[in-house]
Amino acid sequence: MTATMPTSTFNKRRSRCALFLFVLAAGETLAASISGSEASSPKPPMWPDQFTSKFTVRIEKYGDDFNKPGVVYYNWKTKTLRSDFIDWCLPLFEGPARYQNYTCSFLMADGNMYFVNHTASSWQDHDCCLFAGGLGTITPDWVKNCQYNGTDMLRGQKVDVWWFPGTSDPSKPCYGYWDTVDDHTPVQFFGLASIGPAILDYDSFKVGPPIADMTKPHGGCSKECEPTGPGARLFDIPWPSCG
Ligand SMILES: *[C@@H]1O[C@H](CO)[C@@H](O)[C@H](O)[C@H]1NC(C)=O
Ligand SMILES: *[C@@H]1O[C@H](CO)[C@@H](O)[C@H](O)[C@H]1NC(C)=O
Ligand SMILES: *[C@@H]1O[C@H](CO)[C@@H](O)[C@H](O)[C@H]1NC(C)=O
Repeated sequence: MTATMPTSTFNKRRSRCALFLFVLAAGETLAASISGSEASSPKPPMWPDQFTSKFTVRIEKYGDDFNKPGVVYYNWKTKTLRSDFIDWCLPLFEGPARYQNYTCSFLMADGNMYFVNHTASSWQDHDCCLFAGGLGTITPDWVKNCQYNGTDMLRGQKVDVWWFPGTSDPSKPCYGYWDTVDDHTPVQFFGLASIGPAILDYDSFKVGPPIADMTKPHGGCSKECEPTGPGARLFDIPWPSCG
């Protein structure tokens, strides 16, 4: 079942696996390197052009009891993706521990990724900054950049296992993705967040136009996000070859 291949091929390439699913925008197509190595691989699934899915965030180093809710909205017709972290915002910057118990969103639009802090009562009035310039919305066919690793059972469902190595240790992929064998519903995503390995468990997946504001708040979000507070600094992504 295991797809074996020279990981050095991957290490030479930049994957821009910056922070999370939403972020996984693997900039370069690796499909060519993969073809031929895994005869039994099914055709990589495509995301529908428009969907909404709830998710639960789990952070490895916070232990099994840690789980926080979120929602992801995807609209390829407008090249936008919005991930809301509800009542717990994924930390942007490294530094002294601070409260993360507020709601925030990562919005991919106009080919950039923005951080939206839910500081107001309406979306258009929220604080917003440019988090990653040039990090566009992931394409519906992004899974083709992954290696196939057979099937597995996950949360009671038979799933296909897709992963992107990024490191030479197959148990530490840069990111992984699990979707149902039957109808390709997303089940789980694994990636490196700012605070280390993180999982999103998807549920309530619904195809169709997202009912959420997918535009930038009024400010235009052109100012770059900057670490605030004493000792705060940008994160180093822990597994270097995923940077
Ligand atoms: C966040 O948690 C801190 C500490 O428990 C609390 O003082 C603060 O009011 C909380 N903020 C929100 C928005 O819930
Ligand atoms: C977002 O806003 C909250 C206040 O509502 C603040 O405590 C927090 O530091 C802000 N986050 C960032 C990354 O600016
Ligand atoms: C791929 O499958 C092998 C064998 O089951 C397992 O050891 C490895 O951890 C898997 N890798 C990923 C990224 O799922």
